[in-house]
Amino acid sequence: MNRDKRVHRRTVLQAVAGTGFFLALSPGFLLTGCDGGVRATESVTLGLDSEEYDVELALRATPDSVPILPGTPSEVWRYKAELLKGPENTLTENTNSYLGPTIRLRRGQRVKIHIRNELTEDTTVHWHGLHVPSDVDGQPRLPIQPGETMMVGFEVWDRAGLFWYHSHAHGEQGGRVGFQSYAGLAGLLIVEDDEEAGLGLPSGDNELLLVLQDRTFAGANELVYLDGGMGAMMDRMHGFLGDRMLVNGVPPATRKVATRPYRIRVLNGSNARIYKLAWSDGRPVTLIGADGGLLREPEDRSYAVLAPAQRLDIWVDLSQSQPGSTLELISDSFQAGMMGGMGMMGSNALPLGSRSTLVGLDVAESLEVNEQLPAQLGQQRQRILVGSNTRIRTFELRPVMMRGFAINGRRFEGPHVADDEKVRLGDTEIWEFRNNTPMPHPMHIHGLQFNIVGRRGGNSDSLQQGLVDSGWHDTVLVMPRETVQLAMKFERFAGLFIYHCHNMEHEDAGMMRYFQVQG
Ligand code: C2O
Ligand code: CU
Repeated sequence: MNRDKRVHRRTVLQAVAGTGFFLALSPGFLLTGCDGGVRATESVTLGLDSEEYDVELALRATPDSVPILPGTPSEVWRYKAELLKGPENTLTENTNSYLGPTIRLRRGQRVKIHIRNELTEDTTVHWHGLHVPSDVDGQPRLPIQPGETMMVGFEVWDRAGLFWYHSHAHGEQGGRVGFQSYAGLAGLLIVEDDEEAGLGLPSGDNELLLVLQDRTFAGANELVYLDGGMGAMMDRMHGFLGDRMLVNGVPPATRKVATRPYRIRVLNGSNARIYKLAWSDGRPVTLIGADGGLLREPEDRSYAVLAPAQRLDIWVDLSQSQPGSTLELISDSFQAGMMGGMGMMGSNALPLGSRSTLVGLDVAESLEVNEQLPAQLGQQRQRILVGSNTRIRTFELRPVMMRGFAINGRRFEGPHVADDEKVRLGDTEIWEFRNNTPMPHPMHIHGLQFNIVGRRGGNSDSLQQGLVDSGWHDTVLVMPRETVQLAMKFERFAGLFIYHCHNMEHEDAGMMRYFQVQG
């Protein structure tokens, strides 16, 4: 797919960097080069050769200033979008938040997006979890330079689910995903389909979307990413942890709800933090979906683990709640041990594994609603079949002295694949991740949804019971010393894709590789 394209520069206002936010960065993390490669321009649309699109969007990555905490607004980088064509509910602005607009698509739609970079450095937009062609995937080999616009087109092939979009820039000086996402470049993307619609799950005001992120602020509300020196080095090793929670880009808040069922869809959009989702009154967490859409049937857990980049779909029935009462969705405390680092260093006000409230549901209205949770949910997609003759490909995760983590002894080196990173289109394989490190790694694979075949090893600790392994996933948390097997099928698109740790600081430090699907 390496077509040659001329770079066509548009004149846009050069983005001007804010002050405090950028001063708070360590110099090592300023600016990058780009790794060259193909560029899409105004005249070329990558991905889908079609004249006819059902949805057309203009998406900008741009500096902005938004209120996050009381007082001075914070300088952020964020996505803004405009609907050029398509159903009116395609975009929902998050005006008082740095989060990009929520994009709502339907399975089967053909979508075209004009992505404009108004930042001071290269960026890309990755459609996390979506099965799209390689060139549309927002990979670092196709950077959008400042002032440029890239056009991408794809057909929505995935079944209904909660996905998200975020930056995936990686230049010669290292990855910029952690920085750019932290600065605000992320948003939700919802795919709807007939199977899900047929279930009549709570929707509209009865569907809550929650994006969990942790941030640190300096005195005048400047976002602080990695501070200099030793602290930054530790942050890069363990992943950045903020010292306070933000939900949908603002401090955790309460919502007025009624005595009826709700659907709560949660994204962990944090750089590195892991959450242990539970209800404040100890009721079980009823899971109805994961990364790749609805589970086959609901599952009750006492708590559910949500690693960076993962999504969970939760059903909760407040029919029996007393008006005037409040139910909180919390991240419960857990023993992070060695895994978080920050816990033992004690330098963070919100160490990994701290208890925090994510949202309070204030029961304010009494309603007579008789909506039952269906006993069967996503039945249409069959699990990937694997057997004793399915090829097993192993990936060993290991620390590299002072330089983060490696996968099979290799770190990120751009779009170069080793022989054991080539798979065949149409094949089914088991990918086995062996974690030979003392830290958990949320491993993400681009361009597909997989099934989790099983886990072994792993020290049993306070998270083990909450790992959600049923259903479809694009990101799996591999616990320290654990081996996890994934079943995956390489369908529809040949080309380069990426697999990496979604702890963004690990990823940026090189815990990322390309793999190639050979047609
Ligand atoms: Cu959410 Cu490779 O990314
Ligand atoms: Cu990692």
